[in-house]
Amino acid sequence: MYRYYYPVVTAEEAAAMIEDGQTVAFSGFTAAGAPKAVPLALAKRGKELHDKGEQFQIRALSGASTGALDDNLAESNVISWRAPYQSSRILRSQINKQQVRFTDLHLSHLPQMISFGLFGKIDVAVIEAVEITADGRVYLSTAIGASPTFLMYADKVIIEINRYHSVRLNEMADIHVLPPPPHRSPIPIYSPLGKIGLPYVAIDPKKVIGVVENDQPDGIAPLVEPAEVHHKIAEQVVNFLLKELHEGRIPKDFLPLQAGVGNVANAVMAVLGESSEIPPFYMYTEVLQDSLIDLMEDGKILGASTCSLTISDQTLKRVYEDMDYFAPRIVLRPQELSNNPGVIRRLGVISLNTALEADLTGHANSTHILGKDIVNGIGGSGDFTRNAYLSIFVCPSVAKGGRISTIVPMVTHGDNNEHSVQVLVTEQGLADLRGLDPMERTRRIINNCAHPAYRDYLWKYWKESPVGHIRQDLSRCFELHQNLVESGQMLPDLDLSQF
Ligand code: COA
Repeated sequence: MYRYYYPVVTAEEAAAMIEDGQTVAFSGFTAAGAPKAVPLALAKRGKELHDKGEQFQIRALSGASTGALDDNLAESNVISWRAPYQSSRILRSQINKQQVRFTDLHLSHLPQMISFGLFGKIDVAVIEAVEITADGRVYLSTAIGASPTFLMYADKVIIEINRYHSVRLNEMADIHVLPPPPHRSPIPIYSPLGKIGLPYVAIDPKKVIGVVENDQPDGIAPLVEPAEVHHKIAEQVVNFLLKELHEGRIPKDFLPLQAGVGNVANAVMAVLGESSEIPPFYMYTEVLQDSLIDLMEDGKILGASTCSLTISDQTLKRVYEDMDYFAPRIVLRPQELSNNPGVIRRLGVISLNTALEADLTGHANSTHILGKDIVNGIGGSGDFTRNAYLSIFVCPSVAKGGRISTIVPMVTHGDNNEHSVQVLVTEQGLADLRGLDPMERTRRIINNCAHPAYRDYLWKYWKESPVGHIRQDLSRCFELHQNLVESGQMLPDLDLSQF
């Protein structure tokens, strides 16, 4: 029982152990598994110190986004630097005003970048767990994320024991930290549910400076019903996968799927679930959403490897009530394994991610609006896209009521490039870009994916652009974006009532 071996402290006492300027690593991958009480107390402490005119800011790391943690800390102006991903409205605004520095990273890279010392030392790790033993075994909660690495490299550790979660989560955990090069052996994950590690992280118990007790849920809200546009995109994706299955490019027993967070991914999973022609399949992914749990209960999903259980409190309760069923079907891994390029390539993962905009040869921008303002970050989209058997990008053909075409001559920021993006899908249609040269790619993207209201402009741009391997007019390639900035819509004379 940890109370006999570690100092049990209040969240306020734990927050007081963190000093101005320190690098603090928080557990969590999405709101799942993120500490709750200490960050809130830290935000309160920061605000009180600021009110007294004192300086107090930290450099904050986590596995990915964190939900309320980022909101609370950002609202109190406690974050000076952040990596590797966020999805907080308040933090995003501070980043885009350059009040907070933000390093946007491939999520699989984070653990090794820490071990290479690229972020300096981690002063304190604040980690949510379901248990810590006298000899320092830490059993994590609903996300593994980068917590094993944080626990290994942090000078000091604060554990938030969360009694809300099932102690049986350890049956899902598969924890292994890769040694630094050149001592890396092949990772022996040969199937989505293959396990290679331990159910806990072992640390030096002397590093634990406090244990805080807590019982708050992750607080993840259920997803809303997919809109019609998302449903149309999902249908295109599923029809394409069926075609690939019938033509033998996807084997009869299917391939593991990765699906990003959000509405389109959710809609695709729902449509996949309804299709009697798609055989039961596995997921090899980084986040598990509610829809996947439903499909697992129906037997449509045979099992899932993930980095976090990003599922609503109601659905998580269902999982906890039936751990005999779910524990053998879910594997929770650190992000350097859930998103590992070698494993993704070996298993033949089909990846599905979302773009903000894509261009005429298939470069995708998922992160920066007008090339400057970040939305969330690249997350795991690059880890999966670059190494997938089949990489699919989706987005509605227009945004903001038709004022923006998401198909543009040139993306204003490149996250996944034309060499990695194989299939592009909007509600208008699907462009299979595999094996095509730039001219053919452009033809398919304009004809199949662009909204009809923007097709003439895009064709005209292409035809009038200087010829090369790729046609491009450097004086006009951002004309649509420039129009948007100046007049509020990409084609100033476009009648928006048609959308
Ligand atoms: N230009 C300007 N704004 C755009 C835009 C464009 N080309 N395309 C979309 N938007 C706006 C939308 O209007 C919406 O604005 P709002 O919040 O004011 O309504 C916002 O961007 C989000 O778009 P939405 O269509 O709701 O997309 P989403 O919620 O599915 O998120 C991403 C899309 C790209 C932001 C999200 O998928 C992401 O962060 N991806 C990168 C991380 C990732 O892929 N992780 C891997 C898997 S978990």
